[in-house]
Amino acid sequence: MANPKEVAGRAAAEHVETGMVVGLGTGSTVYFTLLRLAERIRAERLSITGVPTSRDTEEKARGLGIPLSELAAHERIDLTIDGADEIDPRFDMIKGGGGALLREKVVAAMSRKEIIVVGKEKVVGQLGSTFPLPVEVVPFAEPHVARVLRRLGAEPTLRRAPGGAVFVTDNHNHILDARFPSGIASARGLQSELDGTPGVVACGLFVGLADKLIIGHEDGSTDVRDRQPPREV
Ligand code: A5P
Repeated sequence: MANPKEVAGRAAAEHVETGMVVGLGTGSTVYFTLLRLAERIRAERLSITGVPTSRDTEEKARGLGIPLSELAAHERIDLTIDGADEIDPRFDMIKGGGGALLREKVVAAMSRKEIIVVGKEKVVGQLGSTFPLPVEVVPFAEPHVARVLRRLGAEPTLRRAPGGAVFVTDNHNHILDARFPSGIASARGLQSELDGTPGVVACGLFVGLADKLIIGHEDGSTDVRDRQPPREV
């Protein structure tokens, strides 16, 4: 039986072409993309420049010998491959389970094309049905943002690291994981509400940022779906 994350992650790496600037997402599915890219760099002399979306990915990619550069060195990114916590039929997503939402969102916004790699349990009818929405907040503003989230119908919890200490993002902020018991009715509406809340650095709603979805299956096959209509870039 194949690992769906490995199937999807490896398949996405085949879309990378020599000369590309490639956004490298974060998480356990994209890890398999990194492994496959490293293989292709060695075997085919694939020449790419990777832009990592987290310190974790940066370390892993560096360890695998994938050439990296700073985001600031690029105006656009040719292709980004990233995971998701949930993705709906419109290709809107919840991301940030690994805490990398801010950098992932900036890199996605700069990308000509974004491929999302998932197992089938991440594909949902309505966002918020299985996963809380991560909201990255400036620590000072945390109580205020928590109140706003409650007013919006959510149950926010401050994220903690495995040892119990408050989780701190790569950008030195905190994360409120906001569970929406009835799901998220409008991703775009909620995103604009949260983006307009002082103290919110980024929310984990990714609206209109994914172009292609690769779903891995246990039998080793993939479902590949393209966003309809295609995004304007
Ligand atoms: C990181 O902050 C997230 O957005 C990840 O992309 C997401 O959690 C997917 O992770 P897995 O591939 O580990 O499920």
